[in-house]
Amino acid sequence: MSWLLECCVVLGVLLLIVIIALRLFAYFTLGVCRSSANMKGKTIIITGANSGIGKETARDLAKRGAKVIMACRNLDTAQRARDEIVRSTGNQEVFVKKLDLSSLKSIREFADDINRTVTTLDVLVHNAGTAHTFGPKTTEDGLELTMATNHFGPFLLTHLLIDLLKRSAPSRIVIVASELYRLSSLNLNNLNPVDGFPAYLYYVSKYANIVFTQELARRLADTGVTANCLHPGMIDSGIWRNVPFPLNLPLKIIVKGFFKSPEQGAQTTIHLAVSETLEGVSGKYFLDCKEHNLSRGAKDPATAKKLWEQSEKFVGLKPDDPHI
Ligand SMILES: NC(=O)c1ccc[n+]([C@@H]2O[C@H](COP(=O)([O-])OP(=O)(O)OC[C@H]3O[C@@H](n4cnc5c(N)ncnc54)[C@H](OP(=O)(O)O)[C@@H]3O)[C@@H](O)[C@H]2O)c1
Repeated sequence: MSWLLECCVVLGVLLLIVIIALRLFAYFTLGVCRSSANMKGKTIIITGANSGIGKETARDLAKRGAKVIMACRNLDTAQRARDEIVRSTGNQEVFVKKLDLSSLKSIREFADDINRTVTTLDVLVHNAGTAHTFGPKTTEDGLELTMATNHFGPFLLTHLLIDLLKRSAPSRIVIVASELYRLSSLNLNNLNPVDGFPAYLYYVSKYANIVFTQELARRLADTGVTANCLHPGMIDSGIWRNVPFPLNLPLKIIVKGFFKSPEQGAQTTIHLAVSETLEGVSGKYFLDCKEHNLSRGAKDPATAKKLWEQSEKFVGLKPDDPHI
C-alpha cells in the first residue's frame, strides 16, 4: 500500500511542477503593450465591449483619455460595464450604443447613427465574437450565426464606416481573430453553411477575419487607414460559455488554471490601437504584441479576393453603399 501512496505523491509533485512551469511560461511570454500613448481627442469604437477582452480594452483606452463608444447588443450589461469603466478611469467620455452584429439591419442603424453623430473616428476595434458548439443557428438574414457575427457583420460595418475612417486618417482598424484559425480552412464554395458545425465554423470565421484584414489593408493602401489583426492568447472569458455539460467541466479547469485574464488578453488589441511604432503598418497579424507568421493558405490574395466578392453579396452591399 505504501508504494501506491509514494507513486501518488510523486505523480502529484510532477503534476504540480508541470503546472508551475506552464504558468511561468505563460507569464514570461506574455505580451504587454509598452506604449504610453495618450489618446485624448481620439474617438474609438469597440464592438462587444461589455465583457471580456473588449471591456478591458475599453477600460485601458478610456484611461488614456479617449472617447470610447462601446458597441454592444445587450444594453443592460453594457451600461453596467460603462459605469464601472467611468468609475475606475474617471473618464466620462464613455458611451454605449446598440449594435447586434448578427443583424444586418442593426449594423446599418448603428452605422447611420455613428455617421450622423461622430465627426472623427480614429480607431475601429472589431472585438465582438461568438462561439457556439453544437446546434446550427441561422440569423434573420438567412446567414449562419457564427459567420454572421464574426465575419459578415464586421465586413459590412467596416464598409459603412469607411468614409468616416478615411476622413479621420491616419486611422486604424483592429480585428480580433484567433490562432485557432489554423484548425480550419475557407470553403469558398460554401461560405454560408447554415447546417454546419458551429464549433468548426468559429475557426472558419477567425480564418475569414485574417484573410479579410489582409485584403482590406491592400484595398486601403495610400488612404491613411491601416488594418491589422491579432490573436489575444487563450483567455478566461465568456467566449467559452456555450460549451455544454459535461464538456464544460474539464474545460473550466483548463480555463481557470492556464488561461490568461481578460486584461492580459487585451494587450495586443491595445498595442495595435495606440502604439506609435505601428504608424503606417498594415495587413499584419500580431500575437503577444509582436508580428507573427501566418499559414501560406491564409496569405493567398486570390482567396482573399474571392472571400471579399462573396461577402459583398452575403451582406447585400448596395450600389450606393461605400465600396472599398
Ligand atoms: N477568449 C479567448 O481565448 C479568445 C481567443 C482567441 C480569440 N478570441 C476573440 O476575442 C474576442 C472577444 O472575446 P472574449 O474572449 O472577450 O469573449 P466574451 O467575453 O464572450 O466577449 C465577446 C463579446 O462579443 C459580444 N457579442 C457576441 N455576439 C454579438 C453580437 N451578435 N453583436 C454584438 N456583440 C456580440 C458579446 O456580447 P454579449 O455579452 O451580449 O454576449 C461580448 O461582449 C472575440 O472575437 C473572440 O473570438 C478570444
